[in-house]
Amino acid sequence: MKKHTEPKRHLISFDSHTTPHVFTDVLVIGSGVAGLSAAIEAAKHNSVLVVAKDKIDENNTAYAQGGIAVVLSDEDTITKHVKDTIDAGQGLCDTTSAKAIISEGPKRVKELIAWGAMFDKENNHLVFTKEGGHRFPRIIRAQGDSTGKEVEHTLIRLVKESKNIKAFEHTFVIDLITKSGACHGAVAWHAKKGNILIWTKSTIIATGGCGQVYRETTNPDVATGDGLAMAYRAGATLQDMEFVQFHPTTLYIAGAVRFLITETVRGEGGILRNKRGERFMPKYHPQAELAPRDVVSQSILQEMQKTDHTHVYIDVRHIPKERLYSRFPKIREICASFGIDIAKDLIPVRPSAHYMIGGIKVDRFLRTNIKQLYACGEVACTGMHGANRLGSNSLLEGLVTGYEAGIDACKSIQKARRELLPYTIQESAESSKISWLDLEDITNSLKSLMWRDAGIERNERHLLEAEEMIEMWSRYVLDKEFSNPFGWELQNMLLVSKLIVSSARKRKESRGVHHRTDYPKTDNTHWKKHILIKKTTP
Ligand code: FUM
Repeated sequence: MKKHTEPKRHLISFDSHTTPHVFTDVLVIGSGVAGLSAAIEAAKHNSVLVVAKDKIDENNTAYAQGGIAVVLSDEDTITKHVKDTIDAGQGLCDTTSAKAIISEGPKRVKELIAWGAMFDKENNHLVFTKEGGHRFPRIIRAQGDSTGKEVEHTLIRLVKESKNIKAFEHTFVIDLITKSGACHGAVAWHAKKGNILIWTKSTIIATGGCGQVYRETTNPDVATGDGLAMAYRAGATLQDMEFVQFHPTTLYIAGAVRFLITETVRGEGGILRNKRGERFMPKYHPQAELAPRDVVSQSILQEMQKTDHTHVYIDVRHIPKERLYSRFPKIREICASFGIDIAKDLIPVRPSAHYMIGGIKVDRFLRTNIKQLYACGEVACTGMHGANRLGSNSLLEGLVTGYEAGIDACKSIQKARRELLPYTIQESAESSKISWLDLEDITNSLKSLMWRDAGIERNERHLLEAEEMIEMWSRYVLDKEFSNPFGWELQNMLLVSKLIVSSARKRKESRGVHHRTDYPKTDNTHWKKHILIKKTTP
């Protein structure tokens, strides 16, 4: 086994003399709820460039179904929401951060409503539903099961109306530009312009998660962990990368995309059944189908093993048809396209990778350890979720942290009277000669490996096997220089997988979403702490 290798600082070679320059006060990388909220706020005082690697509305936010967890009903309180969040986080939540984000939530959601977001109402009042681990119905939704789309499109409208915001779509940010511990922008590849250097006073990473490193995931193709990887290469500290959340219920039909079956289906009374038609959740947890996600995912896995079946089922046949169809129109449409009538048939489901709870370590102002560099939304680790995230706390966190990152980026630019300071930069990626590589084959092999060895259940033998395979692939993929997003994505996925696996190997206990069959107990004596990782070479 060869020595563990750190990635190169930059994925490509570039020279500021020959690369076109773009200038903006604030660069926002990513266009989901966090990125767009940051852009809208920062644009009140600065020029902002939003960069999206696909279309502006192709991201995890746009696919979010369940809703936003927020204290807006008279019976609910911030204290109750904080308690539920902290109980789910199993001893690792940053209480200050959770309190601050949950307390800010109602204001941010009211602002979204004032901007035109239409959340579902009955008798002119917002309707609230429940999700696992929330002891109170506090999830608001839009068009039944299309909450993320409503949020995303509301924010995009504001972005388009703002004179201070420009957006580049189909633009892949490859690496951050840093000097003396501060970030000065990024090198990116624009589908029409080719490579560009973007010079900034502040940079905000809001690139979302990395579900695509797993074979089974609810995440869209864009979720390849680019922000995590570029931040790591630039020297940012990452926290708790072992905490990958698996959503219990993803539509499972061979050949179909892994479409999420929102937890609110269980919130509305959906029942989980195994192959034999038996309801099983009450024997695993007092909250049954509404237990926290880690419990539901692990219980489903056990039932799949016990009944020797590839999946379990959600049963909603007892819910009146009209209610079901109007409450879950998108799920009805997708299931119907595979011949499943949700009012009459069982829905086949199984868990899949859904959300990166860890990420770039940030403080209360969303600042990273690199000056002038912020992170918000899923890519960031505020500590709010600890070792397990409650459903619908993510849109909330994205909305609030995006807004707050935007504010702090402006304040710091103003306070430091920061100027745009482009400088000469010549980077050589020192790549080895390109040998023949089948990138698609490596990508698929990596995804299968991660699913098998670093998935819902982990143990030392499998994690070690994963580490060795990733190290081997990394030796001949990371030393190459690619000129297209597919190659850079694979390089980022390999790096992120390696960080997940090495953190998962380190944490020799089970806690929240991290379940080790060889260390099945939570070990508060040794492991009630975070795992931090940072590159050891410059
Ligand atoms: O089940 C869901 O609708 C997912 C929500 C979330 O991950 O926050």
